[in-house]
Amino acid sequence: MHAMKIAPSILSADFSRLKDEIQAVEAAGADWLHVDVMDGHFVPNITIGPVVVESIRKVTRIPLDVHLMIADPDKYAPEFIKAGADWVSIHPDTCANPNASLQKIRELGARASIAVNPDVPLEQVEACFRDVDMILMMTVFPGFGGQAFIPSVVPKIEAVRKIIDEQELAVLVEVDGGIKTDNIALVVRAGAEVIVSGSGIFKTPDYAETIRQMRQTVGRQE
Ligand code: DX5
Ligand code: ZN
Repeated sequence: MHAMKIAPSILSADFSRLKDEIQAVEAAGADWLHVDVMDGHFVPNITIGPVVVESIRKVTRIPLDVHLMIADPDKYAPEFIKAGADWVSIHPDTCANPNASLQKIRELGARASIAVNPDVPLEQVEACFRDVDMILMMTVFPGFGGQAFIPSVVPKIEAVRKIIDEQELAVLVEVDGGIKTDNIALVVRAGAEVIVSGSGIFKTPDYAETIRQMRQTVGRQE
């Protein structure tokens, strides 16, 4: 069994009280903080930039998991790393040479991750696996918080888990999109170990209780 990490996505937080929201999920037992960066080009939504990440870095000690949904990650990843990103996820179709982009992220001192959209077959990203510390399996199409979980991704999570285990790769499996207390066990059973949840945590009244329930249904303390 793999350890489970919970990474609340601040996309569903109340941005007028961002510091309080971040500190509340940290106190509630969040392991990482997931930061969704959107530029209005790669996805039809605009969220936050490096300046905000720099401010977030000052108010929390937990790792910042920065998910770049932007047209030019090669240009901006260095700025996010400088701002304090510990993990950086990129989408393969946004870089000319994903392996080179991932290597660059590592050179700059962050952990690198490749995102796999629901309609992208694993074969299309397998060449990246040697240059990543994590694979981000999208269980919604990127762009917005609060979308419904796409269950057809589950067999692909199982498949990626199998590849990692068989090849003994030091790579984490993260899932992102529509994860809540009622489906977290499903993705963890499939092999996910880093669980992103935005609305599933921030739209509930008691973050600590929600995270406790998530760990309880999965049967893991950490
Ligand atoms: C989707 C983002 C997700 C999203 C998760 O584009 O990458 O991280 O914020 O939010 P929920 O858990 O509400 O689907
Ligand atoms: Zn995300």
